Amino acid sequence: MIQKQQHSLLNKAEEACEVLSKHIKKDNVVRIISHNDADGISAAGVVCNAISRQGGKFHVTIVPRLKDNVLAKILREKYKLFFFCDMGSASLSKMGKTRSDVIIADHHQTRDSEEPKENITHVNPHLYGLDGTRDVSASGVSYLTVRPMEYRDLSSLALVGAFGDMQCTDGITSINKTILNDGVDSGAIEVREDLKIAYKSQEPIYKALSYTFNPALRGISGDEEGSMAFFERVGISYGIKFEELGNEEKDLLKEELIKINPKIFGEVYSIPNEIPELRNIEDYSKVLDACGKNKKHGVGLSICIGDRESSVQEAETLLKTYRENLMKSIGWIKREGSIGMENIQYIYTDDKKRKKVMGTLASIGIEIEILDPEKPVLGISRMDNIVKISGRTSMEMVERGVNLGVALEAASKSFNGNGGGHNVAAGAVVPYKDMENFLNIVDEMVGEQIGA
Ligand code: C5P
Ligand code: C5P
Ligand code: C5P
Repeated sequence: MIQKQQHSLLNKAEEACEVLSKHIKKDNVVRIISHNDADGISAAGVVCNAISRQGGKFHVTIVPRLKDNVLAKILREKYKLFFFCDMGSASLSKMGKTRSDVIIADHHQTRDSEEPKENITHVNPHLYGLDGTRDVSASGVSYLTVRPMEYRDLSSLALVGAFGDMQCTDGITSINKTILNDGVDSGAIEVREDLKIAYKSQEPIYKALSYTFNPALRGISGDEEGSMAFFERVGISYGIKFEELGNEEKDLLKEELIKINPKIFGEVYSIPNEIPELRNIEDYSKVLDACGKNKKHGVGLSICIGDRESSVQEAETLLKTYRENLMKSIGWIKREGSIGMENIQYIYTDDKKRKKVMGTLASIGIEIEILDPEKPVLGISRMDNIVKISGRTSMEMVERGVNLGVALEAASKSFNGNGGGHNVAAGAVVPYKDMENFLNIVDEMVGEQIGA
């Protein structure tokens, strides 16, 4: 079954590739629009790399989401091909405004089963019974649309996006696996068994460990002092980088960490030809994530398409600030907790720095269980007279019926807002004055979803 679904998706992606190739041959500039997170930036990176290797030209814009007025403005531009990555599936009915060709490479839930107009090639795993939350990300779908061009090394960037969207934390399956195989076969990706510690080659080991959230390490993740205390207890040096530990210390560390969470040891994916900062695929995704969250999409994109060294330095600084901000915010959650409702819980801020990390904080809060994993979390940030909401839940709750994408889309529509996303992670924007009513509706809907 999976084989057949994969096949159908690959066929559709091939169709998209034919459209793309036709425009490159005609020397048309490809107008690319993508999303501002790690997945969106790497998706754009994959497409840009493929186009320039084919001798083509592109014009990219990275946006936080595809608002109707933004879409209308873009479609009025005089391009012959628009290429939307990580967005577009929800705007299918509005794409009819252009006679130019349109490619959509998206992985968000789509209910639109209607055949789009013939100038639109819609590539989305959900159309073929595949799951865009787990099976493939937007960078993966974008990779599939250029895959017939045979640049198999771009599979590594495609996996960066999948990691950015948290698709690979419990192993790589389905379409992501196909992409991984392309990478391994072409030598672009290396897989080995190792400790899954974040920023292992950059940070002193105790810091690296406290920044590791996948998997969560009880008493260590999000807690620098807890991490230091752990090293003191087991008698391993900690002010140095992992590589600088002796072999015996490395073995002991592995043994002790496995006792805390066996998932800490497993497959690690790397790009052997990358510069050290980007060699680990998961670390690479965090570099792009930090660019996105700090509105430095240009820096992220230039990392993906060429100008590595200088952009990476800038991105590393952003990432460091982001991490520190995140650690402080974790302390805030530990002190204040969340506000509980019947079926959901929420955290609220109007603090400028905290607003940047609310989605990640909601997600990490569940992972390290400083927030109740049995209640979906809404991270709410106030921006003048609107609130921006980031919803996150666990896969266990999804298995019990929770679908945050559906709940946030429906609830936000009641207040002239907008929202959507995946079952496990979704977002919305609603007027500040309607926040309470919005929360009540989401609470009720989640209750219905789990049959409470
Ligand atoms: O915009 P997009 O769909 O790409 O964003 C998905 C978001 O959902 C990311 O922020 C990702 O980290 C989050 N996510 C999550 N847990 C999952 C899957 C996705 O927090 N299991
Ligand atoms: O913000 P987002 O929902 O994409 O974050 C999803 C996950 O990515 C977090 O739960 C965390 O595990 C991981 N992450 C991280 N360090 C960052 C950003 C994200 O570990 N700087
Ligand atoms: O902004 P955040 O990272 O919380 O978004 C999580 C998911 O919800 C993403 O997949 C994003 O594309 C989606 N989203 C949406 N509509 C919004 C906000 C977010 O579909 N207004």
